[in-house]
Amino acid sequence: MSEHLKGNFSHSLPRECPNPLDLEIKSLSISNLDAIVQLDINCFAGLWSEDGYKRELESPNSEFHGFLSPLNPSQLLGMGCFWSILDEAHITILAVDPQYHSQGLGQALLYSLLNRAWECGLERATLEVRASNHLAISLYQKFGFKIAGTRPKYYKDNQEDALILWLGKIQYPQFQEMIANKLVAVRDRLSKSGWHLIQ
Ligand SMILES: CC(C)(COP(=O)(O)OP(=O)(O)OC[C@H]1O[C@@H](n2cnc3c(N)ncnc32)[C@H](O)[C@@H]1OP(=O)(O)O)[C@@H](O)C(=O)NCCC(=O)NCCS
Repeated sequence: MSEHLKGNFSHSLPRECPNPLDLEIKSLSISNLDAIVQLDINCFAGLWSEDGYKRELESPNSEFHGFLSPLNPSQLLGMGCFWSILDEAHITILAVDPQYHSQGLGQALLYSLLNRAWECGLERATLEVRASNHLAISLYQKFGFKIAGTRPKYYKDNQEDALILWLGKIQYPQFQEMIANKLVAVRDRLSKSGWHLIQ
């Protein structure tokens, strides 16, 4: 373990470290369930139940990716998931621990999910997002998602509309070019925040 990984840095930001910290996007398994539930609490104050995440992890149709903290491997910094339904990737979760926002982790996760969708031969990706979630919408639009419609009063807690976002042509050469460029941009964004993306 390198010197800067020693000690209690569980909440320090990597940009304070003299050397970049390795960050690896992993496919999550049932062994990560506790960390997933804790991240859900941190991000959404308990949106999904433990059973819900367990089903997600065990489903053969779901791809569940995440970053474990290099400082504390039982802590998850971010997670993203999609379901393969026919030839579509339905993104169900994208979340980064609020203490690690705006460092490039969200775009790295989205890159990872979309790259996996391409590897799986899927043609399109879609998701629903709160109409007021401008930050997330901006992130998705940077990857080429377009607003395809609205589900009025979709969110029961505050009757908020959901925007339906779509990204098509995943198997086209233009997508492969875009996603390769995104990887370069993601690495660059992460490195500015003191992370080194390893794959
Ligand atoms: C949406 C979310 C995953 C983004 O994660 P993140 O790690 O903060 O995002 P990134 O640092 O990769 O930033 C991605 C883009 O979001 C936007 N963004 C990020 N932080 C921002 C800020 N403080 N102000 C304005 N825009 C911001 C920028 O467009 C940014 O791209 P850029 O760095 O090239 O300018 C995160 O905010 C989150 O977990 N939110 C709560 C859960 C949620 O809303 N999920 C989406 C539901 S569909």
